[in-house]
Amino acid sequence: MVKEEIINKCYEFAQSCSKDNEPGHDFHHILRVRNLALKLANNYEADKFVVELLALLHDVEDHKLHSRYSVSTFLNSVDVDKNIKNKIIYILPFLSFSKYPTLPKDFPIEGKIISDADRLDAIGAVGVARAFSYGGANKRDFKETLKHFEEKLLVLDQYLYLDESKEIALKRMKYLKDFYNELLVEL
Ligand code: ADP
Ligand code: NI
Repeated sequence: MVKEEIINKCYEFAQSCSKDNEPGHDFHHILRVRNLALKLANNYEADKFVVELLALLHDVEDHKLHSRYSVSTFLNSVDVDKNIKNKIIYILPFLSFSKYPTLPKDFPIEGKIISDADRLDAIGAVGVARAFSYGGANKRDFKETLKHFEEKLLVLDQYLYLDESKEIALKRMKYLKDFYNELLVEL
């Protein structure tokens, strides 16, 4: 298959994998990560085909969401180049913040881009909305969701890799912190 066809198939696959997810992890999250990742990729010598596939596939095997989809089976079905497949399969597990907050040395640029784009979507106003969507879907009260802010969201900017990401994070982190402090006061 040509690249454009593979991307289209991947788009459809990722869309169908995310169809039952709560709004914090729905296909809009995948598309925001893809759009931001492709924008970040403009400034680096990254393979945009790999970046786009990674963005679309990055939550497919998140077992917190579901456990019935396989990236490897999908990539075989579209006959993607073996080196590209291996690169994607290598990168994907490292995109979990809870398992790997810091990435290995010499991690491929495409992986750094997706990691940053995914983390940037967890802060700012969207980050707030996503956290409460996830919390609500799991019947957590507001204080429990604020714990997630303390454990992860409020320190996420220390786990970004690219200068442009750190720049984007400044405004989003300020918003997140202000929201957190205000909610604590009001609660
Ligand atoms: P990762 O897969 O990188 O370990 P998660 O999938 O756990 O990260 O987190 C992705 C997003 O899901 C978080 O940024 C947050 O918006 C939401 N989320 C995950 N766990 C929680 C939680 N315990 N409370 C609120 N939101 C959560
Ligand atoms: Ni994600």
